[in-house]
Amino acid sequence: MSSTMHMHGGIGESIKRKEDGRFLRGKGNYVDDHVLPGMLHMSILRSPHAHARIKSIDTSAAGAKPGVIAVVTGELMAQHKLAWMPTLSGDTQAVLATDKVRFQGQEVAAVIAETKVQAEDARDAIVVDYDVLPAVISPDAAKAAGAPLIRDEKEGQKDNHIYHWESGDKAKTQAAFAKAAKVVRLHTFYPRCHPAPLETCGCIADVNPATGKATIYMTSQAPHAIRTVFALVTGLPEQNIRIISPDIGGGFGNKVPVYPGYVVATAASLLIGRPVKWIEDRSENLISTGFARDFHMTGDLALDEKGKMTALRVHLDSDNGAFFSDAQPTKFKAGLFHIVTGSYDIPTAHVTADGYYTNKAPGGVAYRCSFRVTEASYLIERLVTNAAIELGLDQAEFRMNNFIQPEQFPYTSATGWVYDSGDYPKAMNVALEKLGYDELRKDVEARRKKGEVTGIGIASFTEVVGAGHGAEFDILGLRMFDSAELRVHPTGKAMLRMGVKSQGQGHETTFAQIVAEELGIPASDVAVEEGDTDTAPYGLGTYASRSTPVAGAATAMVSRKLREKARKLAAHLLEAAEEDLEWERGKFFVKGSPDRFKTIQDIAFAAYTNLPEGMEAGLEGVHYYDPPNMTYPFGTYAVVVDIDKGTGQVKVKRMVAVDDCGVRINPMIVEGQIHGGLTEGYGIAFMELITFDSEGNCIGSNFMDYLLPTAWETPKFEMGETTTPSPHHPLGAKGVGESATVGSPAAYVNAVIDALSPYGITNIDMPVTSDKVWAALRSKGVTE
Ligand code: CDP
Repeated sequence: MSSTMHMHGGIGESIKRKEDGRFLRGKGNYVDDHVLPGMLHMSILRSPHAHARIKSIDTSAAGAKPGVIAVVTGELMAQHKLAWMPTLSGDTQAVLATDKVRFQGQEVAAVIAETKVQAEDARDAIVVDYDVLPAVISPDAAKAAGAPLIRDEKEGQKDNHIYHWESGDKAKTQAAFAKAAKVVRLHTFYPRCHPAPLETCGCIADVNPATGKATIYMTSQAPHAIRTVFALVTGLPEQNIRIISPDIGGGFGNKVPVYPGYVVATAASLLIGRPVKWIEDRSENLISTGFARDFHMTGDLALDEKGKMTALRVHLDSDNGAFFSDAQPTKFKAGLFHIVTGSYDIPTAHVTADGYYTNKAPGGVAYRCSFRVTEASYLIERLVTNAAIELGLDQAEFRMNNFIQPEQFPYTSATGWVYDSGDYPKAMNVALEKLGYDELRKDVEARRKKGEVTGIGIASFTEVVGAGHGAEFDILGLRMFDSAELRVHPTGKAMLRMGVKSQGQGHETTFAQIVAEELGIPASDVAVEEGDTDTAPYGLGTYASRSTPVAGAATAMVSRKLREKARKLAAHLLEAAEEDLEWERGKFFVKGSPDRFKTIQDIAFAAYTNLPEGMEAGLEGVHYYDPPNMTYPFGTYAVVVDIDKGTGQVKVKRMVAVDDCGVRINPMIVEGQIHGGLTEGYGIAFMELITFDSEGNCIGSNFMDYLLPTAWETPKFEMGETTTPSPHHPLGAKGVGESATVGSPAAYVNAVIDALSPYGITNIDMPVTSDKVWAALRSKGVTE
């Protein structure tokens, strides 16, 4: 092995995460850690009502409180044309309410004071006179005749309907249903939940009165897109706006939208001429910022007499809250939900979606998923298990008989997706083997005979990640490409800057590994920097597991660009023809003379010291990568549960997770991502619920009520993998960050339904709590 072939931290090596050194020591650098000279603090007054007209706001007592610099209301914002702002879905959202409040927790006024405590005290002295209106808290209520009109300020808005959207072939699907031997229906609700990152949202806006430059430290997953939105909203020239996203303590989709707090803090800093910090508390985060899901779905699956799926029909009502504000590719109003045919070769499908305004906080963010893929995956996987149960077929076998087969890739789905690659039977087989499925099934039957309640659940999910090809995917018209800029310094060390932004996924490690693989510079010598719009190349940010498929590809491509220049430099140094050189990771050598070589470090030095005639100095470049297609990771998850008939308590005995995300850059990080997702999936399946009472009061506004899983509840995970590289990704990689959150809830619930199916129970909506299971059993006359 040559000197350059020692451990580089290239692709496939489970090197430790570089960033953990600071995170584990409590030395992370989050927004709230920043203290700027002269910094003021902002606190937001929020509506106690879900729906109410504002009669008056009296700020006089608040303004007189100690330390108060300003009290900002919607009226003041309106004077600067900032009372409303555009959302990432092309709707409008109130920054500070002027006319009505439309959800509990909506921003009504803000106090800017010398200290946080002073700001909070003064906030509590603001007096608002409300005229309370009836609240609309579900799509059914939103569409009911005579429902209160929530968005009465929108010209032409006559009801609470936001959009109608369709995908697939209606006539063909109807015809297939007419011929079906059997139709299985599932109506299910994917409840509202919250991404609940440990670090809440916040910012420090620092508008320099001398230069006019606005520097905004922000917990944003998409800093460049935010910069552009800010330029459009405020009218500030874009070069005078600098968004800095420092370390982020979890995002999961919660930190994609633009929140009113950011806009008010920036306006306040501009008007006052001092930096203004706003950091949400936990309850503010849980009641007012980007919720997820809240989809009411009905699926019909048509089958022929042999148990082959022949058609799928789906309708969903989406509860978007008071403002349609989640990021949304403009072509796909229901996000990527129409991937709902999943892993199955279903000849025809028709999907309809309607979005509704309700008096709830704006929701529907891509919580660790690609724009509503989780809901789709849940629906099809629950429907398939229910169909197997109804037909008396084995869940695994039924899936196997209906999978898209490996030789069918690239596969065009009934709703128009072109799946790049997949081998679903293989992932299923690995899972079944790990599980010891045949024996386990017999064991389940034997135990049922003894009166025990036990079951196995399977979910074979297909994901779609890596938005996206810019021709089809955009946010507010911005094409969803991404970027990487690589600078190799004279001493052979490098700086990689990217348009994406890690929130804990380990980008500083994995993207350095891509450079190590492609250019041979050890990963430890590559610094990765993200999140500063003044220095990073433009990108659309990190969500929907797009970093590896898009920015990872950009990193490989820019490294390859530099390798081409390195070849020219090596030829010059070795006095050889370029075509006589061969590349081995980290060096060029003369073909047939492996002793005549130049390392990438020698070459980097030469790029600044010893150039061939006419060559530009330096070894650096940038690449903007617009992928030709999405990537389609997949997997099979299997769960075994036991249920206590006396209490309804569900115990997850086993959880087997087989994932295929193509080539794994850092297998340890991939496993960590999957562990996180399986835990989130467990929380959603069994514990987490944001709900509302009939007046629109949010129930679930703190961690005593909103139950996140801890190490205590989390089951043990048994991991497996298959590797089906993406044919179009330069490294064969697919995304993985979200897969387990997308794939696992159905596996957990399917296990519960399998256990309860002998009693005729075929559905329990999430979260599957003991009381629901207990009540379902009792409704069928089952007692202890
Ligand atoms: O966009 P986001 O970072 O959330 O998701 P991702 O692209 O799926 O990546 C999550 C983490 O897993 C990153 O550190 C990736 O580099 C890593 N990963 C990997 O090592 N190999 C893959 N095939 C996919 C992701």
